[in-house]
Amino acid sequence: MVFEWGAMDKREDKSVNGCENTGGEREKAQPHIRVENLTMAYGDFVIQRDLNFTIRRGDIFIIMGGSGCGKSTLLRHLVGLHRPAAGRVDFDGIDFWAVEDAERARLMRLCGVLYQRGALWSSLTLAENIALPLQEYTRLNSAQIRELASLKLSLVGLTGFEDYYPAEISGGMQKRAALARAMALDPEVLFFDEPSAGLDPISARMLDDLIIELRESLGATVVVVTHELASIFAIGSDSIFLDAETKTIIAQGPPRDLLEQCSEPRVRQFLTRGEEKKKGDS
Ligand SMILES: Nc1ncnc2c1ncn2[C@@H]1O[C@H](COP(=O)(O)OP(=O)(O)OP(=O)(O)O)[C@@H](O)[C@H]1O
Ligand SMILES: [Mg+2]
Repeated sequence: MVFEWGAMDKREDKSVNGCENTGGEREKAQPHIRVENLTMAYGDFVIQRDLNFTIRRGDIFIIMGGSGCGKSTLLRHLVGLHRPAAGRVDFDGIDFWAVEDAERARLMRLCGVLYQRGALWSSLTLAENIALPLQEYTRLNSAQIRELASLKLSLVGLTGFEDYYPAEISGGMQKRAALARAMALDPEVLFFDEPSAGLDPISARMLDDLIIELRESLGATVVVVTHELASIFAIGSDSIFLDAETKTIIAQGPPRDLLEQCSEPRVRQFLTRGEEKKKGDS
């Protein structure tokens, strides 16, 4: 399926703390995931509150913020793994937590996740790693599963590596293999938690290109947690910035617009790698 910018309507302008979401002439696709008044907590400890945003079909949506502000926690809420302390997360118009477990499990299978620490199983070959979700959730026979695993590996440039073990390939290749596994069940939305952490700049760039390519060829929506500025500006179509201090979103909009227009100091500092603060200090 080819990604289409069909059925779009004009984007609404939103403003968060003076940081304009200036879609302007940009057109807007259908909402894919909608987050309303979300509060996330571990027990009584609130991580973030009053989160409101929409991830549109075909977006490459970036979640930014300092370490420990709750980005991975938000990802777990977006894929239905963690129940909100308050508010809701709608996947394609369906509230994850207002439906039966079986329906929630169906929605969760539409989400492919590359976890921050989500390593491949080291005792399994790449093909076997990809086969696991297929064995669990499909009725395909072993020959079909093997064929599908090879297809997924080819999508991430790993043709011929079916029988390699994770330790026998590079870090960048491991990330791509994990991406192939995340794509095993043909997800509608691909989630990446710090995909380029630990990669050299060229491998990180190749992973960005792969993300864009997959988004277009699979027609998927992509959600990426990252602090890699090069990635954020290269691939992000929309974004939010989670603030650890105020425990909520302090900016949202296309990353380049935020760089140009957002006056929120912590956002500016993040997007300019602290350069502006240093200039101000001198
Ligand atoms: N399972 C858990 N139980 C209790 N507290 C947790 C749990 N997981 C995370 N936390 C706390 O929630 C906060 C947010 O953690 P989270 O991992 O979501 O942050 P993050 O933004 O992804 O950080 P990083 O950039 O370092 O990956 C942290 O204070 C963390 O200690
Ligand atoms: Mg994290």
